[in-house]
Amino acid sequence: MIELSYKPTLTGDKVTLRPFREEDFPYLEECLKDPEVLKLTGSTADFDRETVRKWYSTRNEQPDRLDLAIVDRPQEIVVGEVVVNEYDENNQSMNFRILIGPGGRNRGLGTEATQLFIDYIFEATDLCQLTLGVYDFNPRAKKVYEKIGFVFDRIDKNDLEFEGEWIDAINMKLTKAEWAKGQV
Ligand SMILES: CC(C)(COP(=O)(O)OP(=O)(O)OC[C@H]1O[C@@H](n2cnc3c(N)ncnc32)[C@H](O)[C@@H]1OP(=O)(O)O)[C@@H](O)C(=O)NCCC(=O)NCCS
Repeated sequence: MIELSYKPTLTGDKVTLRPFREEDFPYLEECLKDPEVLKLTGSTADFDRETVRKWYSTRNEQPDRLDLAIVDRPQEIVVGEVVVNEYDENNQSMNFRILIGPGGRNRGLGTEATQLFIDYIFEATDLCQLTLGVYDFNPRAKKVYEKIGFVFDRIDKNDLEFEGEWIDAINMKLTKAEWAKGQV
């Protein structure tokens, strides 16, 4: 069992991570429709608005995962989201993912949001490790994950077809033991 019913607000210098609110939806929609987000997360733009709205309006009720909005602090604007999901009981592991829309990228927000979120997850749970997947054509995300301490685990060859080319997915992991070394 994983217990993530409590939805915290985590405050950093550049970002606040907080539970979703009804008024966040237009900002989230802008992030989700951004061509770079679509490409780098392997998603399509033809989603149903009401389904997505319902998805975000129900995130705060989920006991076994944590989804938080990333708020750009000075402007108080939602620029993306951080998520841990897919609890794996055998390995005491969950999957991490992040996305930031065009207004929030390349200013250090992703690095700070990832660090804040992962610190919280390891402090608040008994999880032994976090995993993630990143497409091989996303060196910026890889750089951020490596800075936080994620290391290469394995490759899923030809995981995504993008504009006629097959892209590998790189799986990375961060164990609680490795994370704890950075806390002293
Ligand atoms: C990936 C993402 C979360 C990173 O957040 P961000 O706020 O843009 O990144 P930051 O500004 O915190 O840090 C980016 C780092 O990558 C580096 N970087 C940028 N472009 C790079 C590139 N092409 N190659 C290598 N490093 C690169 C930057 O120099 C910076 O490192 P530094 O702090 O050591 O200088 C964000 O860009 C994003 O969500 N992108 C779209 C969706 C996505 O890729 N999601 C992840 C799917 S796995």
